[in-house]
Amino acid sequence: LHVIHIAAEMAPVAKVGGLGDVICGLGKALQRKGHLVEIVLPKYDCMQYDRIRDLRALDVVIESYFDGQLFKNKIWVGTVEGLPVYFIEPHHPDKLFWRGTYYGEHDDFRRFSYFSRAALEFLLQAGKKPDIIHCHDWQTAFIAPLYWDIYAPKGLDSARICFTCHNFEYQGTASASELESCGLDAHQLKRPDRMQDNSAHDRVNAVKGGVVFSNIVTTVSPTYAQEVRTAEGGRGLHSTLSSHSKKFVGILNGIDTDAWDPATDPCLEVQYNANDLQGKAENKAALRRKLGLSSADDRRPLVGCITRLVPQKGVHLIRHAIYRTLELGGQFVLLGSSPVSQIQREFEGIADQFQNHDHARLILKYDESLSHAIYAASDMFIIPSIFEPCGLTQMISMRYGAIPIARKTGGLNDSVFDVDDDTIPPQFRNGYTFLTANEQGFNGALERAFNLYINNPERWKQLVQNDMNIDFSWDTSAAQYEELYSRSVARARGMKR
Ligand code: ADP
Ligand code: GLC
Repeated sequence: LHVIHIAAEMAPVAKVGGLGDVICGLGKALQRKGHLVEIVLPKYDCMQYDRIRDLRALDVVIESYFDGQLFKNKIWVGTVEGLPVYFIEPHHPDKLFWRGTYYGEHDDFRRFSYFSRAALEFLLQAGKKPDIIHCHDWQTAFIAPLYWDIYAPKGLDSARICFTCHNFEYQGTASASELESCGLDAHQLKRPDRMQDNSAHDRVNAVKGGVVFSNIVTTVSPTYAQEVRTAEGGRGLHSTLSSHSKKFVGILNGIDTDAWDPATDPCLEVQYNANDLQGKAENKAALRRKLGLSSADDRRPLVGCITRLVPQKGVHLIRHAIYRTLELGGQFVLLGSSPVSQIQREFEGIADQFQNHDHARLILKYDESLSHAIYAASDMFIIPSIFEPCGLTQMISMRYGAIPIARKTGGLNDSVFDVDDDTIPPQFRNGYTFLTANEQGFNGALERAFNLYINNPERWKQLVQNDMNIDFSWDTSAAQYEELYSRSVARARGMKR
């Protein structure tokens, strides 16, 4: 199959969170299975250009429609982690992707509807004949209506459209007239069975467009796929998802096990594997030195947390976890940053308070290489999310031998299984979970983890080794996407015959 992913992020060149990891990891896994995989991204000024190989501009200039005019786009091509990636650089007076940031601009709806249209225009003019165009999140959900309304009639008609929503909290809404900018017919689309927002009826909703107009709709775990079908979890889209439930499925993400491998990870002080946990201990000692934490007691458990600090992630429980860990005699390291200035300020206050503390450190920034060092150094890793479509940090932490303590929601419910839960076969139990999103709920799980760590080091070691050997690679999930793609392509060909 020829699969083209169109997205706003891709690790390691343009990553804000898990979406970036998925584009790279899923892309590589599909490529390993023998498919032709290409990626289309905006050309942001703030990308990690040193991670792109052989970047060069193509000779062609693509003209794409926006606001009633044609704008020129320069197209660049390069290789990222072995995958061919096209970068679209618009020559637009608003410098759409030349802002020193990926998201969070007041005109994001315009920036990404522009990008979606330009990406399709590029595929058309380059003569691409993909079997699947796979778009992700609201930023590229416009692809689905644009494809059927404008580009299939123009001849880009070989493809089936797959849309993955990684987080239904972010839906991309705007007043209906804003849809016109990229050439969509707002009047036609502003209908309850099309793109009209289910609560604000004078607005349109990009994710709803992705759901309605795609052939395949997925989200990133089976439990989250159930949760978003309910009024509480669907953020206004549950009825739309229910009407399209036949084409909607939840597939658990994997992780890129080459990029996340303690046996080869160049960011670590010492590489290690499940049979050599001494290496993990050395990473813990190194991180303590680096951050100025006390090394007086080897057996003091180190609790890690690496996250965007947004309400979804349970920020009040993360804050509480710092104090509770210290009361229990542990050490705590947080690496996180927040797009919400009030949360960022609050955590800056806490970081100051612990600036010279022997046992806690808060580092409030995005730092890829430090994140690897923290996964390797941690004994436990907390993910107290209020909701979590999939979550990757629980899988990465397990691969690095840090036992997850997670709330039972979304993808965490599909990947973290409680050590003390007798209903689960012992070989699958891999962490600690809690259901109630309050301090008591969290404390119960944290205390059980401390108890095993302190009182039963032998069993703890077995748990660590077991977790490090779990297969979280993309292979299984990529096979599920492959199956969905193939079935959809076969159905379309059958219909044409
Ligand atoms: P989300 O996409 O909702 O942020 P995921 O768990 O799917 O959550 O993915 C988060 C990814 O971002 C992981 O790879 C994690 O290591 C990384 N990450 C989150 N915060 C930071 C940070 N401050 N510094 C470095 N990496 C981070
Ligand atoms: C979103 C979700 C996260 C998921 C990631 C990748 O950012 O918040 O749970 O793991 O997308 O699919």
